[in-house]
Amino acid sequence: MSVVVVGSANVDLVYTVASIPAPGETVIATGGSRHPGGKGANQAIAAARAGAATTFVALLGDDDGGALLRDSLRGAGVVDATRITAGETGTALITVDARAENTIVVNSGANALFTSLTDDQAQLIRDAELLVLQLEIPLETVRASAAVARAAGTRVLLNAAPVRPLPSEVLALVDVLIVNETEAAQLAGDDATDLFSRAQALTRSVPSVIITLGSAGSILLHRGDAELTRVEAHEVEAVDTTGAGDTFCGALASALDEGLDLASAARFATAASALSVQRAGAVPSIPHRKEIDSFVSSL
Ligand code: RIB
Repeated sequence: MSVVVVGSANVDLVYTVASIPAPGETVIATGGSRHPGGKGANQAIAAARAGAATTFVALLGDDDGGALLRDSLRGAGVVDATRITAGETGTALITVDARAENTIVVNSGANALFTSLTDDQAQLIRDAELLVLQLEIPLETVRASAAVARAAGTRVLLNAAPVRPLPSEVLALVDVLIVNETEAAQLAGDDATDLFSRAQALTRSVPSVIITLGSAGSILLHRGDAELTRVEAHEVEAVDTTGAGDTFCGALASALDEGLDLASAARFATAASALSVQRAGAVPSIPHRKEIDSFVSSL
C-alpha cells in the first residue's frame, strides 16, 4: 500500500497584505515569508502526514530552493524520488489578504523541464497503490505517468489545477478527478450550468469526480449516480487557504490507500483541509494524522 505523487515543487514567497492589489496598484505587505510549496510537493507531504507511505517524483533546480524542498520532503517522511537539473527551482509569488483570500503566480523553473520519467520513476508508479497528479508540470509527463499507472493497475487521482483543456485520452486514464468549482465549470463546458450537470458531464470522461466548494464542503458523483453525495465543511476561522486544496487531495489519497470508500475519504480530507486553513502557508499548514484524528473525534 503506498501513494506516489508526480508533480511540481515550488518555493513559495508569501506576502500578507490588507487587500490584494488591483492592477496598477502598489501596496506595502504587512509580512513576508518563504516556504516549501508547489501543488505536487504539498500533496505528497499531505499524504505522508495523513499516514500514507508516500513517494514524490519531481524535478528541482540545483539551487537553495531545491535543497529547501528536499529537506522539507524528507522531514515529512516522504520518499524523495526527485531529480535535480541545472537552473532554478520553481517559485510561486503569493499574496494573502485579511479575508484569507489569495493570488498565486507560478514561475515554473525546473517544473517546466520535467518532460519525462526515468525507468526507476516509472517503476515507482507501477509499485504504488495510487498515483496523484496535478497540472503544474508538462502535460506529456502527466499523460505518461497516468499511462504507466493504468497499465499496472495503479489507481489514478488527477487534481486538474491549474486548469487547462485536457485531451480525452488523458481523462480516459483517470479514476478520480478532483476539481474546484471554477475548474469544473471550465472542464465541463458551457452546456453544463449547475453543479449536478457539471459533475455529470465530467463523469462522461472519468468514473468519479469530486468538486470542492471551499467553505461549502464538496460534492462527489460516480458515473451513473442519480444524485450528488454532499460532504459538509466544518466551520473554522480561516487565516490562509493556500494549499487547502492540496491538503484535501493528499489526505484523500492517504485515506483511499487505507481502503476507505470515496465518500469516507472525502470526509477525512475535509477535516484535514479545515485544519490547514487555520494556519499560514502551504506546507507549514498541512496537518499530521494525530491532529486530523483528534479533530474528527471532537466533531
Ligand atoms: O496550491 C497551492 C500551491 O500553488 C502553492 O504552494 C504554490 O506553490 C502553487 O503551486
